[in-house]
Amino acid sequence: MQSAAPIGESRDHLPTVRTTTAMPAQNGARPDRGQAAAQLPAIIAAIAVAHRPSKMPFFQRLSALPSQIIRDPGLLGELYLVYQATMHATRAAVYFLPHLDSPAMRKRKLRIFIDDDGLPGGDTHHYQLTRAFRNMGALCPVDDEEFGDAEELASHLDAGTLAFVQLAKTLYSHSLGPWCIVETMSDDWMRALADSLSTHFPQIVHEPYFADCFAQGVEERHAEEAIAVTQCVLERRPDLLAETIEDANTMADALDAIWGAMDDILSRAISRHQNARVFG
Ligand SMILES: [Fe+2]
Repeated sequence: MQSAAPIGESRDHLPTVRTTTAMPAQNGARPDRGQAAAQLPAIIAAIAVAHRPSKMPFFQRLSALPSQIIRDPGLLGELYLVYQATMHATRAAVYFLPHLDSPAMRKRKLRIFIDDDGLPGGDTHHYQLTRAFRNMGALCPVDDEEFGDAEELASHLDAGTLAFVQLAKTLYSHSLGPWCIVETMSDDWMRALADSLSTHFPQIVHEPYFADCFAQGVEERHAEEAIAVTQCVLERRPDLLAETIEDANTMADALDAIWGAMDDILSRAISRHQNARVFG
């Protein structure tokens, strides 16, 4: 698998973490059934620590931003589009997960689908996120039902975010590693986003997108389930461990780039604001 294309204008401020986390030494031998499954949780945890979203500069910069800048509906809309497109790509890609076709595994997948797309009253995580941004005043530049595949989104997204959308489908349909790392890190980035936004919009923590998810421990449960399901697969197919870990690393790199792209959006907004003060 190729690494993700760089996303955003600059990644100079990002830590250069290309985790080659840690395929345990096999001395050239293939892992046996028990070994591969047993090794997975610690390897995914190590990747998650190396790429922890909440330590990325974007969240600190968002929290520290002057309120008159972040209250710009256009800026909120820019942030919304990159974040929603990223989340959308992973939610849509879950429907293409491999190795989970037995009736028992389909039941377990369905529970995850329902948490995202089968909320009471026909609601979805996607719609909840849109409402959360609109309630902050965001001018959301793409309507909900325009979020489709990469081709349909191409005219709306910057090149880096579009590359993420394409990569998510490719990686999720190749192995279960990307799903494991995304679910493992998602609680951290949701809490970091809610905390940063709440500096400016205290009511954001009560939006169902965040509040329901945190109250019900949804993402922690998804993380445990993704790893447990993948361990079941590795019990049968220990030869899949290497590609599972490689794809998880690639997805973690791609998520780093998304936080970098969102940080670049803030940096440009700060520059515009400073120029307006000097030249306005
Ligand atoms: Fe999830």
